[in-house]
Amino acid sequence: MNQQGPVVAIVGATGAVGTTMIEIIDARPSVPWGEIRLVASPRSAGKVLRVRGQDTTVQALAPEVFDGVDVALFDVPDEVSAEWAPIAVARGAVAVDNSGAFRMDPEVPLVVPEVNAADATNRPKGIIANPNCTTLSMMAAMGALHREFELRELVVASYQAASGAGQPGIDRLYAELAALAGKQVGNRSGDVAEALREAGLGSDSPFPAPLALNVVPWAGSLKDDGWSSEELKVRNESRKILGIPDLKVSATCVRVPVVTTHALAVHATFGQDVSVDAARKVLAAQPTIMLRDDPAAGEWPTPAAVVGEDPTWVGRIRQALDFPNTLELFVCGDNLRKGAALNTYEIAETVAASL
Ligand SMILES: NC(=O)c1ccc[n+]([C@@H]2O[C@H](COP(=O)([O-])OP(=O)(O)OC[C@H]3O[C@@H](n4cnc5c(N)ncnc54)[C@H](OP(=O)(O)O)[C@@H]3O)[C@@H](O)[C@H]2O)c1
Repeated sequence: MNQQGPVVAIVGATGAVGTTMIEIIDARPSVPWGEIRLVASPRSAGKVLRVRGQDTTVQALAPEVFDGVDVALFDVPDEVSAEWAPIAVARGAVAVDNSGAFRMDPEVPLVVPEVNAADATNRPKGIIANPNCTTLSMMAAMGALHREFELRELVVASYQAASGAGQPGIDRLYAELAALAGKQVGNRSGDVAEALREAGLGSDSPFPAPLALNVVPWAGSLKDDGWSSEELKVRNESRKILGIPDLKVSATCVRVPVVTTHALAVHATFGQDVSVDAARKVLAAQPTIMLRDDPAAGEWPTPAAVVGEDPTWVGRIRQALDFPNTLELFVCGDNLRKGAALNTYEIAETVAASL
């Protein structure tokens, strides 16, 4: 800690999540930090970014960048976090990691402050993990409803934004949209892919199929029995965050041509009686949730309305017609804010307050 306050390092400051982290820090009326250090790959070393009105030079990741750092925020690929978060801890920092490297490690808490903030204090490895953005988008709502009605089962379909695949995902979607703008691409199988090829967009995409004018039922890597890694994360991380080891969860993760903000259709079954009115009351009382639920007035959450917002928006709340104690909800959360940078930053401020 320096004389002005704790020192924070943002590792991956130039990426989609790191850039959002800087926006969040800039927008806060006050921050606890005495110094904000920016770190990325050697490709970005020397780049100057503005943080809280100050030009700040990006440093290349190296052990010395963690000297004097109290909290190190990792917004980098899994393998970079896996290698470097322990190095930051060895140099005296608490690491808060946004990647998937440590989330299911039993010695690493997986934290959503409004659900399980207390878990952050028990961190034997000096590392706190931030959940996957798809899981995170529904956790504030599920945590609040679970406290009241005892969650038993979750069936989820996600509609995930391109920026969930980082800056390369954003760049690819914009490139595809630009290539197809104003074109009549035809209605035959393969016409969209052909139009993209003609426009010079090759197969070096972060997505396994065209995303513009399409939906792609895939996110992550292939796991056993046809599941995607993203779908298993939703299951495993929900159980860990909510502290319900036997929670029944089944997810289908789908990528849609939205730049930022994930949406989820959630079918949630509870152990206690639950009504739409009671659920609305519980959700309305949660400060990090915005209830937008008036279909008669055309009011529901959409990614285009939610992007850039901190709260998770919840709407379309219905009592399932054929399933007892079950609600259907539609949830939207900005995957770069609450789904990543904001939640990480909230954890970091909690850690700073305890130093
Ligand atoms: N996007 C989301 O919605 C989301 C949500 C939750 C969690 N996450 C996780 O957050 C992490 C960052 O994701 P992102 O979407 O921001 O990715 P991104 O846009 O691709 O940015 C990656 C960042 O990591 C840096 N980096 C890459 N390799 C590095 C290395 N060897 N050494 C040091 N820095 C390195 C990059 O620096 P350069 O610019 O110098 O290459 C860049 O700053 C990932 O683990 C991701 O899974 C993302």
